[in-house]
Amino acid sequence: MPFQLWTGPIAIDLGTANTRVWARNGTAPVREASAVAYARGNRPVAVGREAWELAQRQAERVRVVQPIQRGQVAEFGPAVAMLRAFIRRALDRRPLFSPHAVVAVPAELSGVGQRAVRDALRAAGASRVYAIPKSLAASLGAGLPVDGPESRLVIDLGYSGAEVGVVSMGMLTAARSIAYGGRDLDEALRRFLWRAAGLSISSAEAEQLKLRIGAVDPAQVSNNIDLSALAAPGVNVRVHPGELATVLAEALEPLLDEIQWTIEQLGAQQREEIRSNGGILCGGGALLRGVAELFSRRLGLPMVPADDPLSATILGLGAVASELSAAPAAARRLERIVLPGFQP
Ligand SMILES: Nc1ncnc2c1ncn2[C@@H]1O[C@H](COP(=O)(O)OP(=O)(O)OP(=O)(O)O)[C@@H](O)[C@H]1O
Ligand SMILES: [Mg+2]
Repeated sequence: MPFQLWTGPIAIDLGTANTRVWARNGTAPVREASAVAYARGNRPVAVGREAWELAQRQAERVRVVQPIQRGQVAEFGPAVAMLRAFIRRALDRRPLFSPHAVVAVPAELSGVGQRAVRDALRAAGASRVYAIPKSLAASLGAGLPVDGPESRLVIDLGYSGAEVGVVSMGMLTAARSIAYGGRDLDEALRRFLWRAAGLSISSAEAEQLKLRIGAVDPAQVSNNIDLSALAAPGVNVRVHPGELATVLAEALEPLLDEIQWTIEQLGAQQREEIRSNGGILCGGGALLRGVAELFSRRLGLPMVPADDPLSATILGLGAVASELSAAPAAARRLERIVLPGFQP
């Protein structure tokens, strides 16, 4: 395997469903499914998308592990195997020197959780690990003017949860992790189809269906979605695709209640600033058509989706990593934003 003489810091967004690795300016981050496949024993046989593909072909022989759950290392060995493979993919080859790594973690991650992230990345080949809060990384990557004095809101709608953050003066000033994400929307669709049409579909089928509906507003759903493929042959499914968009909108209610409660807990001035400045939506859930309008209406503040919601966090981390390689100024920003357990 060829060696690379030098590499600057890399950046890593550890998602439950997707992991992204950024290696240098000017190249697109590597995006992979957060999954490791095992056959027999504990040597991984595939990582990333290939792990799921293998499991689809050989379901009885292959076991898939999702080692990251809500930004935490849920299974250490599989997390290390997966990260080592992704880092090599992003760098194209094995680095001669271990790179520094900038990673995003939920703001409420415990000290033990922070150490597990750091240890997994070190075992996967990183030397020093800097962790910054996910919401801050996402707001930097989405181009929110975070350095100004006025507070803005950032909401990351991921697979297993949502992360809500308030940023101002280049820092995260409040944050909350909520255990309600894209997979809960998939479950809402499954339950609805079972109740309304006696249809029993898998979680994976429900996610595919959600992607095809693609909206939380019935007016923005394409009418030629055919649900009959999900039913037994000859069974007529009397559900209109628009109804499913309404199911998705209603399924977001518990999350919206939690976000509203989080905003209510802020100081009066912060609340006022957020009401007038609004904020940004990112994560896969932000791709649902009409979701920003729904959030704006329900929260009473202007929310807009990030241009590339799936990449906001990794682009923000990449920006911090490239600042880090430009040395002095970066060190200053990092001192302010790196979580305590990761202070150099
Ligand atoms: N076009 C889309 N429309 C609706 N939902 C989508 C779309 N694309 C992806 N998603 C959903 O977004 C979620 C994945 O988003 P994302 O990659 O931001 O999560 P993650 O970073 O892996 O998870 P987490 O941050 O919770 O650990 C999945 O639930 C997926 O179904
Ligand atoms: Mg994420």
